[in-house]
Amino acid sequence: MSGEVDPRNRLNDLTGREWTYALRSVITTRYPTSGPEGYAHDLRRAHPSPKPPQLIAELVRFFTRRDGHVLDPFAGVGGTLLACSLEGRTAVGVDLSPSYAEIYAAVCERLALAPQTYVVGDSRGLAGLPAVAARPFDLILTDPPYAAMQAREKTGERKKRGQGAATPFTASPDDLGNLGYWEFLGELRRVIEGALACLRPRGHLVLFTKDLQPTPEHHNMLHADITTTLREVPGLEYRGYRIWHDQSLNLYPFGYPFAFVANQQHQFILIFRYMPQG
Ligand SMILES: C[S@@+](CC[C@H](N)C(=O)[O-])C[C@H]1O[C@@H](n2cnc3c(N)ncnc32)[C@H](O)[C@@H]1O
Repeated sequence: MSGEVDPRNRLNDLTGREWTYALRSVITTRYPTSGPEGYAHDLRRAHPSPKPPQLIAELVRFFTRRDGHVLDPFAGVGGTLLACSLEGRTAVGVDLSPSYAEIYAAVCERLALAPQTYVVGDSRGLAGLPAVAARPFDLILTDPPYAAMQAREKTGERKKRGQGAATPFTASPDDLGNLGYWEFLGELRRVIEGALACLRPRGHLVLFTKDLQPTPEHHNMLHADITTTLREVPGLEYRGYRIWHDQSLNLYPFGYPFAFVANQQHQFILIFRYMPQG
């Protein structure tokens, strides 16, 4: 395995050794939330689910080359956009919420980073946004709502600990996080189809998600249902997943002492490649 970048490598700027390390199937992290490595987490935590820029940076390094161009249609407080700035990539983020856009701007100012393009709007109308249509993207890297997980009140152990309140991303009916499970999947497909129209052929879609607790009616493995839904999109090929294990999350004694109830300290990172015919 070479310590050099293979001249045939058109995907990224990694050496063989770096490439191999980037293929580990579980990414285990415990990122600091303060100091320079916290990347202004104290501001970003106003969002219910901000992604650590360091984690996203690892994915950006694998799926793009330096100067690559990245789209995040569910940008939040800018985990993807910050990662792109740290890695010398350009990015466009879209989110419904003006207040998340403002937090992202404040984070950039604090970190002395030039802000990436941030559009406040509904990502179901991506194609009509001039900033999105300007130049084809190399990568779509995004973290959509987890169906209505955040919009629901928590029960059981979390409620007992006073952590039961719902934490919806926004109150908007356009927020995909306020939709029912199956409607969410249909609207997510719509966003991704619009985004693919702006992705270069052979570019990648990398999408974070997590599962909901099972019910008698459905397994609620959202990662599986998203994969099934998006595999139906013409040209989009599913290539596998990685797991992000976030060790900073609490372990709850769910179900104790009666029955198994799953904790979820991990998220799925689903990876697709866009291979349109012709
Ligand atoms: C899981 S969060 C993304 C968090 C982000 N990765 C970060 O680091 O902050 C999902 C985001 O999708 C946004 N969203 C939901 N529906 C949307 C829509 N129709 N158009 C644009 N953004 C939407 C929410 O406002 C929320 O910020």
